[in-house]
Amino acid sequence: MTVFRLAKFKELPISPVALTDLVRRVEREKSVKVYRLDLAEPLFLPPDEAISETVNAVKSGYYRYTPPRGLPELVEAIQRYFKRTRGLEYSPEEIIVTPGAKFAVYAFFASVLEEGSEVVLITPFWVSFKAIPMMMGGKVVEVPMQRPHWRIEEEALKQAVSKKCRAIVVNTPHNPTGAVHGLEELKLIRDLAVDYNLYVLSDEVDWAYVYDEYKHISPATLDGLKERTLVVDSFSKVFCMTGWRVGFAAGPKELIDDMLVVQQHSVSSPAAFAQKACIPVLEKAEEYAAKIVELCKWNRDYFYEKLSRIDGVECVKPPGAFYFFPRVAKAEELRDGLAEKLIWEAHVAVAPGSLFGEQFKDHFRACYALPKNYLQEAVDRLVELLSRL
Ligand SMILES: Cc1ncc(COP(=O)(O)O)c(C=O)c1O
Repeated sequence: MTVFRLAKFKELPISPVALTDLVRRVEREKSVKVYRLDLAEPLFLPPDEAISETVNAVKSGYYRYTPPRGLPELVEAIQRYFKRTRGLEYSPEEIIVTPGAKFAVYAFFASVLEEGSEVVLITPFWVSFKAIPMMMGGKVVEVPMQRPHWRIEEEALKQAVSKKCRAIVVNTPHNPTGAVHGLEELKLIRDLAVDYNLYVLSDEVDWAYVYDEYKHISPATLDGLKERTLVVDSFSKVFCMTGWRVGFAAGPKELIDDMLVVQQHSVSSPAAFAQKACIPVLEKAEEYAAKIVELCKWNRDYFYEKLSRIDGVECVKPPGAFYFFPRVAKAEELRDGLAEKLIWEAHVAVAPGSLFGEQFKDHFRACYALPKNYLQEAVDRLVELLSRL
């Protein structure tokens, strides 16, 4: 018997957990291994220091509570890292270390939204950007990007902002499309944020994953935006440390103060030894990131070469992040959906497009931050089935 269930939970966007259940079922029933391109998890080895320093940290006593903001020596390392990687200068009072970037996003929305507040969300989107505001009684206003190059449109953006709006979410490099927003697009966001007095939530967890001539621009580097932007980053994606659950954010002191209250009364802080191990990782950030991005670029080019040859698959070469988000013309005709068919018949799991916005049922997201042999086998299977549709 359920005592009661709040209506807002019934309306939340679907969770990817159902797909994992299906993967397990197919593996059991068919005695096969399903290749997982559906997860947003780079499966390269984390930096050596991450592992050795976690062990050292536990042995040397980093197993108790830390201050809610995070270990002061990690906060200092984050200051240096933002300066080096974005040219952004923050004081320790403008920084918070969180259990993953996801909790920074949660604490941000908990700090700025009240019942009925609106959030502008560029679509397609990472599903938590929609689910978290909805859990807080907020309303998400979606702004579709222009296909196939996934550009933000000025008119659509302007129409989405109202007096109830509190924040615009920017995610560059972008999950799921791999788009990298350019200066002109960020200026549109800046102008609206300033005119309507909004916060900008800038999720930059994939900042290092930019290819060819593309560059990552943090919105906080634009005139007039640093004082209203929360920059969110993580050890999960660029350092392949998903299981450490350490993320961090930097922004105006008043906002960080409120986020600290949310953190203090919910999760307290990330684990002490995990935070301690993150310090040497940040000091060598650029060196490690360069290696990982090189591997990903090879994977992207391999994947694109195969995918772009299939009739009925619309796909651009993503300039950033580590995902493809192609459109499959025949997808709507498939009774159980493309993602299910791929799992049953090709033994490859991809994330269904509908996870990223209702209008993307004919898209899917495939992650390519994976070891080369694994990716090649998965791509060959995927391409073989898509070519037969
Ligand atoms: C855009 C984006 N932000 C945040 C996260 C969460 O990162 P973390 O593992 O640091 O919580 C993800 C993970 O999928 C993501 O894709």
